[in-house]
Amino acid sequence: MQPTVPVALAPSAPAHVAIIMDGNGRWAKARGLPRAAGHQRGAEVVRDIVIACRDLGISYLTLYAFSSENWKRPVTEVDDLMGLLCLYLEKEVAELNRNGVRVRVIGDRSRLAGNVRALIADAEARTSGNRALTMILAVNYGGRSEIVHAARAIAEAVRAGRLAPAEITEDIFASYLDTVDVPDPDLLIRTSGERRMSNFLSWQSVYTELVFLDTLWPDFSRENLLAALDEYYHRERRYGASSFSG
Ligand code: IPE
Ligand code: IPE
Ligand code: MG
Repeated sequence: MQPTVPVALAPSAPAHVAIIMDGNGRWAKARGLPRAAGHQRGAEVVRDIVIACRDLGISYLTLYAFSSENWKRPVTEVDDLMGLLCLYLEKEVAELNRNGVRVRVIGDRSRLAGNVRALIADAEARTSGNRALTMILAVNYGGRSEIVHAARAIAEAVRAGRLAPAEITEDIFASYLDTVDVPDPDLLIRTSGERRMSNFLSWQSVYTELVFLDTLWPDFSRENLLAALDEYYHRERRYGASSFSG
C-alpha cells in the first residue's frame, strides 16, 4: 500500500521540483529484461509521482524524459522512448485533467517526429486550463542548446531594433528560455547513483538544492520522494549571503 503524504508537509513544499529519472536500463539489466521494460516501468512510476507531487502542494514538476544527447542511443531504444512518450501523452491526458495537472514541454521540438509534436501540442492545449500542478516534460532538451537558442533570439531582437544590448539583464535573458514564467527549481533529484547534471536546466539550477539517490528510477516511490524532501527541508539556502545561524 502506498503511504499517504503527510498534509503537514504541504505548506512549506518547494514550488518547483526537478527530477533526472535515471537507471531504467540498469533496472532492466538486473532482471534480465530488455531496456525497454525498464523504460516502461519508469513511465508507470511517473504516473504515481505526478499525483504525489500534486498532493504535496508542489506547483511545478520538471521531468527529464529525453536529453539532446540521448539520440546517441541505438535507434530502436530511441524509438521505444518516443513511443512511450506518445503513449503517455495519448493515454494520460484525461487522468491529468481529472487531477488538475497542466502539461508543458521544454526542449527543441524541431527534431521530433510530426506525430510526437502533434501529441505534445494536443496535450498542452487540452490541459492548459489546469492549475493544481504544472508537469514540465523535458524532451530533446539540453541546457546549453536552450541557452544558445535564447542567445540567438536575443540577437535577432537586437538586430530588429526591439531590444538594446544594455537592456539585456538576467531576467530578460531568462524570458527567452523555454522555462519562461517558471520559477527556478528549488530541489533537483537524480536517481540511480549518478552525480552529474547531464545538461539539465543549466541556467535555472545555479541555486538548486541537489539530492542524489541510489534508487533506480523504476523503483522510485513516494517514500523516496518524501526522503528527498526531508533532506531538502534540512538544507539552509543562503544564495551567497551569510549563514542565518551565525
Ligand atoms: C533513464 O534511464 C531514461 C533515459 C535516459 C531516457 P537510462 O536509460 O539512462 O538507464 P541507465 O542509466 O542506462 O541505467
Ligand atoms: C540523463 O540521463 C537524461 C535523462 C534522464 C532523460 P542519461 O542516462 O542520458 O545521462 P548520462 O549519459 O549518464 O550522463
Ligand atoms: Mg542513464
